[in-house]
Amino acid sequence: KVDWRLLRHPVIKRGTPFLLCVLDGWGENVEDDYNGIYKAQVRTIRALKDGAPKRWRTIRAHGTAVGLPSDDDMGNSEVGHNAMGAGKIIEQGAGLVDTALRSEKLYNDKGFSYIKEAWFNAPGTQHFIGLISDGGVHSRYDQLAELMKGCAQRGCKKIRVHGLTDGRDCAEGSSIKFFTELEKDLEVLCKQGCDARVASGGGRMYVTMDRYEAARNLNTSNCVHFEEADWKIVERGWQAHVLGEAPNKFTNSIEAIETIRKKHPETNDQYMPPFVIVDKNGAPVGPIQDGDAVVIFNFRADRVVELSKAFEYEDFKKFDRKRWPKVKFVGMMQYDGDLKLPKHYLVSPPLIERVSGTYLVKNGVRTFACSETQKFGHVTFFWNGNRSGKLDHNFETYQEIVSDNCPFNEKPKMKAEQIAKVAKEAILSGYYDYIRVNLANGDMVGHTGDLGAVLTACATVDKAVKVMLDAIEKVGGIYMITADHGNADDMAQRDKKGKPLKDTEGNVIPLTSHTFAPVPCAIGGPGLPPQVEFRSDLPSAGLANVTATYMNLLGFEAPADYEPTLLKW
Ligand code: 3PG
Ligand code: CO
Repeated sequence: KVDWRLLRHPVIKRGTPFLLCVLDGWGENVEDDYNGIYKAQVRTIRALKDGAPKRWRTIRAHGTAVGLPSDDDMGNSEVGHNAMGAGKIIEQGAGLVDTALRSEKLYNDKGFSYIKEAWFNAPGTQHFIGLISDGGVHSRYDQLAELMKGCAQRGCKKIRVHGLTDGRDCAEGSSIKFFTELEKDLEVLCKQGCDARVASGGGRMYVTMDRYEAARNLNTSNCVHFEEADWKIVERGWQAHVLGEAPNKFTNSIEAIETIRKKHPETNDQYMPPFVIVDKNGAPVGPIQDGDAVVIFNFRADRVVELSKAFEYEDFKKFDRKRWPKVKFVGMMQYDGDLKLPKHYLVSPPLIERVSGTYLVKNGVRTFACSETQKFGHVTFFWNGNRSGKLDHNFETYQEIVSDNCPFNEKPKMKAEQIAKVAKEAILSGYYDYIRVNLANGDMVGHTGDLGAVLTACATVDKAVKVMLDAIEKVGGIYMITADHGNADDMAQRDKKGKPLKDTEGNVIPLTSHTFAPVPCAIGGPGLPPQVEFRSDLPSAGLANVTATYMNLLGFEAPADYEPTLLKW
């Protein structure tokens, strides 16, 4: 039985209003012309660093520090928010899938037996849907390649891949490289007697991988309100993958990507329109039929929950499916443990238990969590160890500000001002002990690769932080400003020596993915006793150390098995 009681902190007073602000995609990186944070007007955040050196430090936000397989893995929001919410380093989806494949446990588990049942009765096609890249954030191509090989070795005779182009967790334009590798691997499978082909595809941000609705809790008494996601994106995917319908038809995926990119110079890997591969007669080579098996091979939940619902729910009204094939459907993981979605899966997801939020509500901490749609699930669902719904309805208020629906370089201010406004009200209300927000701009605008827009994004974040810090000042509160991983801090692809790479016209090639940079962590506020500062004996601390730290700032000792606090007093 868990003892949920928390001891009081010896010097920090319980009940002092506390702001925890996560700057999404905000690393501490080399200060040069392509560091969007350094180049932007960020006086408030800069002053935290320059003004109080003992209350500012950096922490690790990538690789093994956040439960990823190796230090060659950049950080991402899922693992970052999981770590900050849970106070522990948890082996994440990417590593769990690696282990399950390496040990072959995956092939002996229930999920795999379930899809296998489909192969030996016509049509019996094995479909794979997911993101084709080496990003390691939502999926990894080498895992798909291994899994396809494993299926063929175990009797699968027909494989169809529905692949999404990335350019967001890897270099823009790299889709050609990954699909060339995929086509080559499929050819090898064909030679071994498995009819294996790409059947459809499209860009991840335009086709299939919309975000969220992940944490919509169907129990209305404890309902986290998620605004309707952009189901059009999922519908386009359904039409291409399941129905075999798309405006663009080609005979293989390389021709598809090359032609579409030439015909639509304004498009890119992230936003590529959908395509379908057809045979000589113009018929799609791999629509999904009754009796087939379908695997979504992404391990990360947020961008495949909606498609999973479309496959799994009989009663489904988000768009007209036209045809709902009866298939054996599995996820690489179970994406939502509360909704049990999907019912069948290949690898068990990480078990993230005794998260900070549960301790805090059980000790009466009144919490207000807020972000905009794009990151709302990050400060609730991911924060709470991938749990949908609130931990305790009586102690928590979750507020979502609806995000704009456009590429965010077009509106780089996003909803930062609105988030700051509601956070300020929550701070001044005197009701809440703990105000937790995420400002999405650094990340979402960073992913567009548009440095000019990033400057606006970062300056807007800085103003929003000032609004909230002023409110904390007014109520005598305490703050912690930190981040989940880098992004806006480097907007240029670089050579091994760190020099920005240029295209043939001499323009610097933008970096659209996250960075490996550590992230800042700043504490302060009039409510923080003067002797409290960062200790110096944890130089390689990571995001999981943040948890014990903010539990202290809320006036409690952290649970003994959490990663140690960053504070001394
Ligand atoms: C995305 O899903 O937008 C990117 O792949 C990762 O970004 P995030 O980890 O910051 O959400
Ligand atoms: Co991101």
